[in-house]
Amino acid sequence: MSLIPKETVDQILAQADITEVVGDFVSLKKKGQNLWACCPFHHEKSPSFSVSPAKGIYKCFGCGKAGNSVQFIMDVEGTSFPEALKYLAKKYGIEVPEDQPSPEYAREQSERDSLYIVSEFANKHFQHVLHHHEQGSIGQSYLKERGLTNATIKKFELGYSVDAWSDLTDAALKAGYKQQYLEATGLTIVREDGKKYDRFRGRVMFPIHNISGRVIGFGARTLKSNDKKSPKYLNSPESEIYHKSNVLYGMYQARQAVRMQDMCYMVEGYLDVLSLHQGGIENVVSSSGTSLTEGQIKLIARYTQNITVLYDGDAAGIKASLRGIDLILENGLNVNVVTFPAGEDPDSYIRKVGDEAFKAYVQEHAQDFISFKTSLYAEEAKGNPVKKAEAIREIVTSISKIPDPIKRTVFFQSCSLIFGIDEQLLISEYNKMHLQDRQQQQQLRSGSLADFAEAEYYEQEEAETAKPVTETDSLKRYEREIVRMLLNYPDRILVDGQNTCQYMLEQLEDVEFRTPLYARLVEVVKSKLNQGAIPSADDFINYPDQEIRTEATNLLSDPYELSHNWETHQIYVPHESDLLPYGAERAVLRLKWRNAQLLMKAEMEKLRLVTDPTEQDRVLHVIRSLKTFETQIGELLGIVVNK
Ligand code: CTP
Ligand code: MN
Repeated sequence: MSLIPKETVDQILAQADITEVVGDFVSLKKKGQNLWACCPFHHEKSPSFSVSPAKGIYKCFGCGKAGNSVQFIMDVEGTSFPEALKYLAKKYGIEVPEDQPSPEYAREQSERDSLYIVSEFANKHFQHVLHHHEQGSIGQSYLKERGLTNATIKKFELGYSVDAWSDLTDAALKAGYKQQYLEATGLTIVREDGKKYDRFRGRVMFPIHNISGRVIGFGARTLKSNDKKSPKYLNSPESEIYHKSNVLYGMYQARQAVRMQDMCYMVEGYLDVLSLHQGGIENVVSSSGTSLTEGQIKLIARYTQNITVLYDGDAAGIKASLRGIDLILENGLNVNVVTFPAGEDPDSYIRKVGDEAFKAYVQEHAQDFISFKTSLYAEEAKGNPVKKAEAIREIVTSISKIPDPIKRTVFFQSCSLIFGIDEQLLISEYNKMHLQDRQQQQQLRSGSLADFAEAEYYEQEEAETAKPVTETDSLKRYEREIVRMLLNYPDRILVDGQNTCQYMLEQLEDVEFRTPLYARLVEVVKSKLNQGAIPSADDFINYPDQEIRTEATNLLSDPYELSHNWETHQIYVPHESDLLPYGAERAVLRLKWRNAQLLMKAEMEKLRLVTDPTEQDRVLHVIRSLKTFETQIGELLGIVVNK
């Protein structure tokens, strides 16, 4: 195990508030007893990710990810258990005794942990150089000249890399970091002849953080304005922890403000982010000069549905990035655009006019994207019918990306006004473009979904997964249902003074659980009962085995939540727990029923193979009694059995 002492682990577990931990990554909205958000682990448009403050767990009904605060950090960051604990300890100001890295501990660290750790070492090193090394003053005077205050420099952890071949590499190796990880993060480059040198030399360093604040890479600006040989900015290469298409510079520092103001400003460069942030516009991020990706848009969409793109002045650059914006529309977000006078970028403009004038300018010049694009093209197409037709197709393409039909209608109207053409013409252009798409989709939709005999309240689950159901699938579901009830209502008295565990396990005495995971969970329940205790949710949520922990958390999250509507209209909807004795009985019967069928099937297989007549008789007898048993239970369940 990790070297974090048990008391510290317990303290972290006790103090970590699931709502706060998850709230750092997604916007949670309260509905009923739980909080909901769009899932950070898979793409979705309506929220199926829930957090239960009472149970201290999260669960996504879409992709199935579930767990407690520690598991959430492990999932979000892809780190090991001890690293996730350290993250939480840092968040809650709990001191974790620093111990010497032992081989045991090193083994437990994942590859990713090692990359995070070496990146953080480099980050500290570059900052140290900026503030304390003799060459640091070069970087400092540059940053001052660009108008950045010490507070901004500290907040964004800016640094400087010494202008020498291997300053960082030497320091890291000396401190015991492995060359393997220095290479994997791109901090060190190893030549064919084995000579090692630093990627970043004599540059101002901009660390790039992921949304939980870990350094995952660097941007680095040269200070030599007339050096044609090396690029103005050098960036870390992709690595296991740095996937450029999912990262936005400044998101870590911006996320709270983005959520509070329900708006995110997009700029192009590092300096734009820093200048605006310093000027009080903290909800700003940068795509770092590349065109926007879907991953980046989804990152923003976790916090807000509103993006305002701040463009540099030149029209050529704007046209190039229009495609990226169609992608934002496609994801259902609202996009506004602000352009600056020719030759200005947000950084130069805010420094020229000051914070207040800058804010006023942005307010005044924000224009919705479709109108902006329409005006841009309308201007060009004046008096040129061919260009005009092209322009219309362009605009209609953008409008067609908007998933919301009402918004689309509004944009068709405003576009028709700007172009001075009939709205109907635009709509028929749109229809032409989309006829093919829709035909394809319809073909996909019909003829899927198998129908099921014993649907009852499993129907919903089936419809969601839409997979053909095999007998083992349904057996697994029946077993799962039993375990779910055992975990959720262990101590509820059902019949004759028996609680759920006693009742169900007694009823199912002869039934062997066939799904290994559920068999194990049932064993945990049984062993608790044998100790004279009743299992509690915590026994499972903190269970040492990951598989058990995850499934238990899944089972402990309640999907049958009252809709807010029903509550406010005071319509009484019975909750599962109101009908528990009935539900438990049926769950038991169902499993027995399916189990009888599977036993029967096995006996029939046997029958095909036996040749001895007495043995045949015996097997036939077993089959007949199983058949009777099946029919009886079937009747109790109200299932009509085909003869
Ligand atoms: N960029 C890059 N590599 C380059 C040039 C640019 O990664 N060789 C990215 C950087 O993130 C940069 C952004 O593109 O911040 C915008 O580039 P540019 O407009 O050229 O620079 P500015 O941000 O204006 O840089 P500065 O103000 O520092 O001159
Ligand atoms: Mn600039």
